[in-house]
Amino acid sequence: MKGIILAGGSGTRLFPITIAVSKQLLPVYDKPMIYYPLSVLMLAGIREILFITTPHDQEAFKKLLGNGSHVGCKFEFAVQEQPNGLAEAFIIGEEFIGKEKVALVLGDNIFYGNGFGSLLRSKVDVNGAAIFAYPVKDPERYGVVEFDSEYKAISIEEKPEKPKSKFAVPGLYFYDNSVVEYAKNVKPSDRGELEISTINQMYLDEGNLEVGVMTRGMAWFDTGTVESLDDATEFIRVIQNRQSAMIGCIEEVAYIHKFIGFDKIEDAIFKYGKSNYGEYLRSLI
Ligand code: TTP
Repeated sequence: MKGIILAGGSGTRLFPITIAVSKQLLPVYDKPMIYYPLSVLMLAGIREILFITTPHDQEAFKKLLGNGSHVGCKFEFAVQEQPNGLAEAFIIGEEFIGKEKVALVLGDNIFYGNGFGSLLRSKVDVNGAAIFAYPVKDPERYGVVEFDSEYKAISIEEKPEKPKSKFAVPGLYFYDNSVVEYAKNVKPSDRGELEISTINQMYLDEGNLEVGVMTRGMAWFDTGTVESLDDATEFIRVIQNRQSAMIGCIEEVAYIHKFIGFDKIEDAIFKYGKSNYGEYLRSLI
């Protein structure tokens, strides 16, 4: 399976912070936001990853992430000229995806929870599509899944005024290869975007959409507003300091999953120097 991280967008809800800097490069406590969704794909065992950014931010992402060899992965970069919507990722990424299945994660989504790695790895061979549902207070900000009494999904609506449930769809999606053709058939919504919810509805109509409910033990943040960015930072700080374990440390994930050997951890220790991040890697050895 291949992976795409969508890290474009305009970040208007964080202005003026994101006028000159991509939202996904902002710090979430001690590392850039993009490390968190990247570590999610790596936890799923995905090593070929496409980063989609705005044209003007691409250089900064390349500087931060390189070609991926330091974490045993292959990174590629592509540009989204305008924030035309999440579904455009599969049109931009068509050549990269080729004949494979693909996972998409939004560059501003953070996940943490017990058993999350195994949950991810159970989705990489999906037939059809696999998405998640997560209960939130403000479902109208997201794609919303409606379930029947047996928790079978019956509809998905993007940012509905009157949500039919409290279950939002987090920014993490697994698809078989048909997603590329589906994406090409998505028509822009009233707000002018190619909506991922339309793709999910297409899979649902075909009877090929699996929706897993993320329960209380899982934390999910999207960091699109000042409040939620601050919440995520605080959450990461508290958990990391309490447990002395890092969330979103890409070199650690790569080492544990045998993408890299010890030599690359040593290189990383040198690269990150005296920062908290470097100290953490040093503490691992
Ligand atoms: P959003 O938070 O919906 O949009 P945004 O980042 O442009 O922010 P704002 O609403 O404050 O203007 O985007 C969710 C994620 O998806 C985020 O990581 C940016 C990314 N994204 C794209 O890369 N391309 C797009 O066309 C859109 C809509 C979002």
